[in-house]
Formats: sequence, structure tokens, C-alpha cells
Amino acid sequence: MKLKLGPERVKIAPSLLACDFANLADEVRRVEEAGADWLHVDVMDGHFVPNLTIGPPVVKAIHQVATKPLDVHLMIEDPMRHAPDYVAAGAHIVTFHEEAVTSAVHVAKFVRSLGVRAGVSINPDTPIERILPALEHLDLVLVMSVFPGFGGQKFIPRVLEKADVIREREGWAGDLEIDGGISTETLPLAAERGFNAFVAGTAIFGSGDIPSAIREMRQLAEAGLQALAL
Ligand code: DX5
Ligand code: ZN
Repeated sequence: MKLKLGPERVKIAPSLLACDFANLADEVRRVEEAGADWLHVDVMDGHFVPNLTIGPPVVKAIHQVATKPLDVHLMIEDPMRHAPDYVAAGAHIVTFHEEAVTSAVHVAKFVRSLGVRAGVSINPDTPIERILPALEHLDLVLVMSVFPGFGGQKFIPRVLEKADVIREREGWAGDLEIDGGISTETLPLAAERGFNAFVAGTAIFGSGDIPSAIREMRQLAEAGLQALAL
């Protein structure tokens, strides 16, 4: 591949959705000490997705104890209206869903204007072509490898081809993240296609040894990207 990503390109992002919410501060410290690069925060509103999780006050509480960037995944309707609250709460990356907006270009520009990095996420059934006009205004593309709403679902391999369009065809060198059913079994499949950021909830918090799980994921990611010469 012609494009080249930087040396710090691999991002392992534990999804806090799978952590013990009654001990949030300890859980944040635990994954940070174990080597997490980003903290993935799943915001669900009970409308865009059938589940309801957390809002700005909890994101702010996480921000107060975190030292790593908060990768905030908004699975909500009307993200333009709510994005400023998440920025104020300490989000470092704000990712909205393409399916929740009429113009991804408009929302991406707006998010960047708030002084944070902008991401767009797409559901398994959404064609990747939909987000291409917004690419130049984006820092991150988040490809869902499950239907959003719940942790612990089975990885959907057909979404991997979206990476070919973003990397090979468009030559885009931003962060390409995958979310849903990521484990040491499925992560290599994604890294070999050009994904460089990996969200994992169950596979990290459910493992008996979080530092080893993160270390192994990072090695697998490095190997996959090296095979692609990325
Ligand atoms: C799903 C969320 C994911 C989820 C991943 O709607 O966006 O971030 O927490 O969980 P696992 O890794 O268990 O599939
Ligand atoms: Zn997520």
C-alpha cells in the first residue's frame, strides 16, 4: 500500500461498557495500567439504539480519573445537539453515527470546530460510500462489526471490506477503528485489512489477565499492519 501510518498507529481501546460500573475509577486505572491507548466510551440513548447507557455527567467523571484520551462513541439521535456537552465533559474524540445525521460533512466540521477530533461510525448494513464525502473533515472512521446497542455480540466479517475502500481506494491515512466482537481471534483479520484502532469490551474486561490481553492484541495488530506495509 502506498500510504504509511505513524509508529504509534496501533490503538487498543477497551470499551468501558464491559467494566464494573460500580467501580468505574478503579476500572479506568486498571486498563490504563494494563496498556490501553484510548478509553472507549459507549453512549446510547434508547432511541438510536435500543439500549440506554451513560451521559455527560458520567463521561465527566471518567475524564476526571483518566489519563488516556476518551474515545466517545455516540450512538444517539441528533448528535449535533449533544456533541458540545460531551466535549465539555472531556471527550477527546467525538464519533457520531452516519445513520443519525443528514450531512456527515456538516456534523464532522461542527465537531472539529469544537476543538476535538471528529469521527463517524457506520453500521454493518450502511455502505461505506456514504461517508466518503466527509473523509477530508474526519480524523477517525469507526466501522461497526456488530449492530450497535450491546456488548458481547458475534463479529460480522463482511464489514472488513470497508477498509479496502478507505485505505486502498481512497488512500486515507486517518484512524480506522473497528468495534464489536473484537478478540485475539478476530483482531488479526481487521489489522490485515488496514484497521489500526481496535475496540474490545468483553475480550478485555472478561479476560483473567488484562495486561496480557492488551499486549497480545497490540502484537497481533502490529503484525497485521506490518504485513500490509502500513
Ligand atoms: C456496541 C458498542 C461496543 C461494545 C463492544 O454497541 O459500540 O463498543 O461495547 O463490546 P464487545 O467488545 O464485547 O463486542
Ligand atoms: Zn462502541
